[in-house]
Amino acid sequence: MVESNLELREKILEENKTVHQLEGPLYLDRHPEQTNYFQKRVLRHTVQRVCKELGQSRGPILDLGCGTGYLYLKFLERGYEMTGVDLSEAMLDSLKTRVGNEDAERSRLFCSDVESFLEENEEKWSAITASALLHHLYDPETILKKMCEKLNPGGTLLIFFEPLKQSIHSPFRYQLHRMLTWAHEIAYRIEMKWRGISLFEEKYELADYQRKFGGIDPKRVAEVLQAEGLEIIHLEKYCSRRYGVVAWIANRLLRSENTFNLLARKPIA
Ligand SMILES: C[S@@+](CC[C@H](N)C(=O)[O-])C[C@H]1O[C@@H](n2cnc3c(N)ncnc32)[C@H](O)[C@@H]1O
Repeated sequence: MVESNLELREKILEENKTVHQLEGPLYLDRHPEQTNYFQKRVLRHTVQRVCKELGQSRGPILDLGCGTGYLYLKFLERGYEMTGVDLSEAMLDSLKTRVGNEDAERSRLFCSDVESFLEENEEKWSAITASALLHHLYDPETILKKMCEKLNPGGTLLIFFEPLKQSIHSPFRYQLHRMLTWAHEIAYRIEMKWRGISLFEEKYELADYQRKFGGIDPKRVAEVLQAEGLEIIHLEKYCSRRYGVVAWIANRLLRSENTFNLLARKPIA
């Protein structure tokens, strides 16, 4: 990597550390788009699908960018052997407080950037998951390739809740989508102010690096995984919104898309 790219990568890592240190225990309060009833349903059926893929296996599962445990705890509470990696101590500290005593033996957490972890750790996994991680990375494609390499044959890969590069099918519906976004962002800001939760959006300059390019392209993710020999089992695109009812309108009436989930499998032979 040439020096300026190395510098940029370091800056992105540093900013991610800083913003997620601030997000800490209030992360999910600040992000109701991850906890509203609409998204909870998506989360539930995705976790069930991964469990079905895993069959009798109890893991091990690696959750990259595990944060405060959004995906991690769902699998841990179902009895899987879990390893979580995140570069923010504050996010991991918050996750640790949510691990029940009965699950603690099956829980391992590492404070590291995913790039170094995947480089240095030699274990292989029955499943690797990442929720809302790729758009924070300087080079998501290299990480995707590493994930494939670290999967056991028959293993499952889940890319979850990633912002996607939007394509405009109908300019009229897109305008309605923008108006709905504008209105519900105002409601969200009022709610956060009322609850005394700061948003520090001005600090997010490079942390969401891939948003500068419009988000992550699910088609490209699928191509990278297929080139590494994985089969795509499921790809869903939908619209995530701060509030469940707004998500319902966006998905059922406007049929807009800003998020994707992708499940892939590494063949046995
Ligand atoms: C948007 S949050 C998502 C957290 C959690 N996966 C969830 O869905 O709630 C992104 C997480 O990725 C972590 N992160 C960002 N860049 C990272 C990197 N290069 N290596 C490890 N973790 C990273 C952040 O600290 C943060 O906890």
